[in-house]
Amino acid sequence: MKLLLSALTFASLLPAAELPRVEKTSNGSYRLMVDGRPFLILSAQISNSSGWKEQLDRAWPLYKQLNANTAEVPVYWEVMEPQPGQFDFSSVDLIVEGARKNNLRLVLLWFGTWKNGVMDYAPQWVKQNPNRFPRMRNRAGDQIRVLSPISAENRSADARAFSALMKHLKAVDGDRHTVIMVQVENEAGSLESDRDYSAEANQLFRGQVPGQLVRALRKQPGTWMEVFGPEEADEAFAAYYVATYVNEVAAAGKKEYPLPLYTNVWLRERKNFERPGEAYPSGGATSNMLDLWKAVTPSLDAIAPDNYVLDYAGHREVLRTYNRPDNPLFVPETAPGPLAARYMFYAIGEAHSLSFAPFGMDYAIPADSPLAGQSLLGGLAANYHLLAPAVEELARLQQANAIQVAVEEDRITDLRLTFAKFESVVTFGTPKPSYGGLFGSGTKNRTGRVLMAELAPDEFLFVGFDALVRFLPRRSSDLRNAQFVSAEEGTFVDGTWQRGRLLNGDETFFGISLPAEGKWVKVKLMAH
Ligand code: DGJ
Repeated sequence: MKLLLSALTFASLLPAAELPRVEKTSNGSYRLMVDGRPFLILSAQISNSSGWKEQLDRAWPLYKQLNANTAEVPVYWEVMEPQPGQFDFSSVDLIVEGARKNNLRLVLLWFGTWKNGVMDYAPQWVKQNPNRFPRMRNRAGDQIRVLSPISAENRSADARAFSALMKHLKAVDGDRHTVIMVQVENEAGSLESDRDYSAEANQLFRGQVPGQLVRALRKQPGTWMEVFGPEEADEAFAAYYVATYVNEVAAAGKKEYPLPLYTNVWLRERKNFERPGEAYPSGGATSNMLDLWKAVTPSLDAIAPDNYVLDYAGHREVLRTYNRPDNPLFVPETAPGPLAARYMFYAIGEAHSLSFAPFGMDYAIPADSPLAGQSLLGGLAANYHLLAPAVEELARLQQANAIQVAVEEDRITDLRLTFAKFESVVTFGTPKPSYGGLFGSGTKNRTGRVLMAELAPDEFLFVGFDALVRFLPRRSSDLRNAQFVSAEEGTFVDGTWQRGRLLNGDETFFGISLPAEGKWVKVKLMAH
C-alpha cells in the first residue's frame, strides 16, 4: 500500500503533468518543453480550408508519410462562434481526436480578426454589422475588408472567442497536451491601406505616441510623424494598434489556459518592393516593426516569420532576423517543395529554430505543374524520418551551440565547417580533380545537406544526405592529418542513440559517404 502510494505520488510529479512552455535557458537561448522534455516541432501546415473532416482524413496519412511529429491545423472563428456567444467546438474536437489517433502533437492556428491581412474568417454577424464592428477606412475614407484595430468592440469580440477556445482546450486537453502551441491570428495587418484613416484613427494619429512605446524604443516623445518620420509613421501607427490588439487577444486566451502562443508574419522581404498595405500587410511584425511589436506583446511567446524567401541568402537572413535574444525562432510556414529539405537544415541547424513547417502539404499538384508527380514534401520526409526520433538530442545540441550545417546550393558544392580542433570538408556530388585538389561536381537536384554537431573537440555526430564528409585538423593547428579512431553508423530510437555497424576500410578511406536516403554517423578522431 505504502509502495503504491509513493508510486502514485511519484507519478503525479512526472513531467507529463507540466504544461508545454517556451523557456529561456541560462545561456540566453530558448527551448520548447513538452511534457517536461525539450522538443522541436517537425511539421507541415495543411491548407486553409482543410480543417474539415474529409480533408483531415486525407491529411493524417500524409503526416505519417512525412514522419512529422506535429500537425499545424487552422481553427476558424466563423465556425466556432456561428452566433454571438454561442460556441461550437466540434470542429476543434475532431482535430484533437484525429491528431491523437495519429500520434501527433498539434499547433492550432486561430483564424480570427486577421487572415492574410484581411478579415475573411470573422463570423457573418461581424462581417454584416460594420456599425458595431467597424472596418478600417482607406485614405479616401472608404471602408475596406479589414476590421479596425483601434476598435475596442472588435478587440473584445475576438478576445472573448479566443479565450473560449483556450478554455475549451484546457477542458479537453489540459492533461494530455496534444495541443502544444497556438497561433494567434494569421498574418495580422492590413492590405488595401497602410493604416486606418477613420476620423477616430486620424485623431489618434495626430496625437502623441504612447509614452510606454517611446520609452521602450528609446526615442524622443512626439507625434507619430515626429517620432517615426514620414517614411514609417503610418506603418508604425498601424503596427502599434495591431500589436496591442493581438496581445490583448493572446492575454485573454492565456488567462484561461497558458499554452505557448505566437503570431506569424507576412514578411516584407518576400517581394521586391516594400510598400506596406500593398506588397505586404501594414502593421504586421515585419522586420522594420519588430522592435515595436516586441515592446508591446508580452503575452506572445514568439513572433514567427512565414519564410517564403526563396533565395538561400535571403532565406537565412530572415531566420537570423527573427532569432533574437528577446524572440525565440519558430518557422510556422515556409514554401513546400524541393527546397524545404535543405532549408530545414538552415532553420533547425543554423538558426536554432524550434519549429519547421512547409505550408500546404495537402495541396493537390495540378497535372500541368512542373512538380506534377512529385510529392510537395520532397526530401523533407527523409529528414524527418532521421531527425524526429532525435529532437531531444538536437534541442540539447542547439543549446550547446554545437551545430553547424553544410547545405548544397547552385554552384556551391564544397563547404568547410570549422570547429575547435578539427574542420570538416563536405563535398556534394562526385569529387573531380581540378587545380588545387578534388571538388564536388554537385548533385542533380542539389540534395546535398549535412547537419554536424561537435560532441567533444575530437568527437562528432552528423546526419545528412548526398554528401561526402572528410575531416582535417583545424587550419590553425600544427598537425596536418586526421585519422578516424572510430566511425559508427547508428540511429536514434525514442531519443536514444543506437549504435549500428562500425565503418572502416573502403567506407572511410576517402571520407564518409552519406547516401541519398541519408544516415547518422558518429566519429571519434585523432590528429597527427
Ligand atoms: C500565408 C498564409 O499565412 C497562409 O495561411 C496561406 O494563405 C499561404 N500564405 C499561401 O501561400
